[in-house]
Amino acid sequence: MIYARIVGTGSHLPGEPVTNDDLVRRGVDTSDEWIVNRTGIRTRHFAAPGCKSSELALIAARRAIEAAGCAADDIDLIIVATSTPDFIFPSTATLVQAGLDIGNGCAAFDVQAVCCGFVYALATAEKFIRSGSHRRALVIGTDVFSGFLDWTDRSTCVLFGDGAGAVVLEASEKPGVRASVLHADGSHHPLLWVPGAVAGGQVTGDPFVRMDGQAVFKFAVKVLDEVVREVVDLAGVAQDSIDWLVPHQANIRIIQSWAKRLGLPIEKVITTVNLHGNTSAASIPLALDCAVRDGRIRPGHRVVAEGIGGGFAWGAVLFDF
Ligand code: UT7
Repeated sequence: MIYARIVGTGSHLPGEPVTNDDLVRRGVDTSDEWIVNRTGIRTRHFAAPGCKSSELALIAARRAIEAAGCAADDIDLIIVATSTPDFIFPSTATLVQAGLDIGNGCAAFDVQAVCCGFVYALATAEKFIRSGSHRRALVIGTDVFSGFLDWTDRSTCVLFGDGAGAVVLEASEKPGVRASVLHADGSHHPLLWVPGAVAGGQVTGDPFVRMDGQAVFKFAVKVLDEVVREVVDLAGVAQDSIDWLVPHQANIRIIQSWAKRLGLPIEKVITTVNLHGNTSAASIPLALDCAVRDGRIRPGHRVVAEGIGGGFAWGAVLFDF
């Protein structure tokens, strides 16, 4: 039996932390009190103007490869989850491949599932490895949402930050990923989207993040506990065998309600939303890397990563670390 195991993690946050008061000083009509009470966010990071998703991804990827103790050329599959690609094409994954000087011709492609992108990418890479066709995958979540924020829309611009997280996933006889569950319901797409495009050399539509926050909140709380139960059942393990939950980091209130519905102690949930804000596809691998590097998640621990994002797309992956 071939499993796919995470053998290295890495992440990167650009620049210095930007506080809620910094946003007020920049002219956003908000307050530290509102943002902390409604979201739990205290700081986030923003990439410098012109900095692209692949640049953040490369730093995170190098750290993950170093932690895995392999060479970049040992990678035979690169999957990048992003909804803020450097260009319309080529894929950000091919830019990461070039940046890492991987000259072995390995497959490289992007997946787009917004804030659930890393879960989709990890589940996809696991299936490549489990099939025996590939042995070592670099899976990255990277986003530069700051370029798509409307700074006059306080209901969205205070929520997001930029960042990247990466893992190296390797074929192993030892259990790693035990189950994954992916879902989508595109009928909800106008609740969270960037309704813009490029055509005829012009931006058409509205190129900023737009969200019906309350509708997203309600949907997220409803499906996230269902998807955790589903992945636990599929893996055939007991829910109380889970050591850590690494949720998408959008709002501490969503995380708290979801943990309560699942009957999970909040101490088992890795939270970084206070420091990172919502970094979309990067939020789960960023939180995972933080918890691995500070020693909370250790070899042998059982982890569930779960996310939800625009579409809606949602899902979960259960793995032994
Ligand atoms: O990663 C994708 C997933 N995204 C999410 O999970 C986001 C889910 N949604 C949420 O996290 C929350 O709905 C928000 C944090 C976006 C909003 O919190 P809320 O408790 O649902 O607030 P609300 O939208 O109902 O707004 C309440 C009030 C409004 O004022 P009035 O109409 O009651 O006078 C807003 O205008 O808060 C006001 N408001 C703000 N005030 C200060 C909205 N944004 C801000 C702000 N600062 N930044």
